[in-house]
Amino acid sequence: MSKNSILLGVNVDHCATLRQARYKDDPEFILAEPSVLQFALLSESAGADGITMHLREDKRHVQSCDIEKVKASMKTRLNLEMACTEEMTEYALKLLPDSVCLVPEKREEVTTEGGLDLIKNYERVSEVVKAMKAVGVASSLFIDPDVNQIKAAADLGAPWIELHTGAFSNQYALGDYQKEWDALKLGTELAHSLGLVVNAGHGINYENIKQVRQLPYLNELNIGHSIVSQSLFLGVDTAVKNMLSLMR
Ligand code: PXP
Repeated sequence: MSKNSILLGVNVDHCATLRQARYKDDPEFILAEPSVLQFALLSESAGADGITMHLREDKRHVQSCDIEKVKASMKTRLNLEMACTEEMTEYALKLLPDSVCLVPEKREEVTTEGGLDLIKNYERVSEVVKAMKAVGVASSLFIDPDVNQIKAAADLGAPWIELHTGAFSNQYALGDYQKEWDALKLGTELAHSLGLVVNAGHGINYENIKQVRQLPYLNELNIGHSIVSQSLFLGVDTAVKNMLSLMR
């Protein structure tokens, strides 16, 4: 593997979505399946560089017990996606993941729909970034590829951003993505010039990865839904390895 490879964080939330469809009332039931821990460990052994888990306020997929089990057994890095709430901040300060990715959260949304508005939420994000820094946890800010948001991220002193690739992914599927691509490309260039480490994620799949991987200065991609979906047919090992070979 070349030193400049893009890293892969596998988001295992939707393995938990499937488990919750049957075992919502007792996710820790001895026979509850599929196992989120097993999905995470298989992803790592297939070559994933990290595992991402989003503990949503409504706990609709991943549960805190999933996160704790994965953290206790994993060998790579744990990235906790979280809203900037008091509850989640306290949780992260106790858990001490390797990194947190700060995301906006609306109860009624199906998935994270837009980036975090750093200008509107500047004070709160700043408090969370500082609290994480104090305990040695890196913060990543999930933002749209927008010049003002990227500048705000640099001002906030977070080491990383994760650029939201959702709008690009939707347009890619329609074959008309130049505007969204230009925004991502300019965004990565600007962020890099401001000293930010640039990650990206949301809606990345086995087709659009061929374009996404061409973004300059990419450090890591966080990919969930598409890998979990392909795992149903191919198994986790092959699904992760196929994505890695398309990325690299
Ligand atoms: N990055 C962030 C910040 C997200 O909220 C999500 C979705 O949970 C992802 C990446 C992964 O998106 P997808 O499941 O579409 O690959």
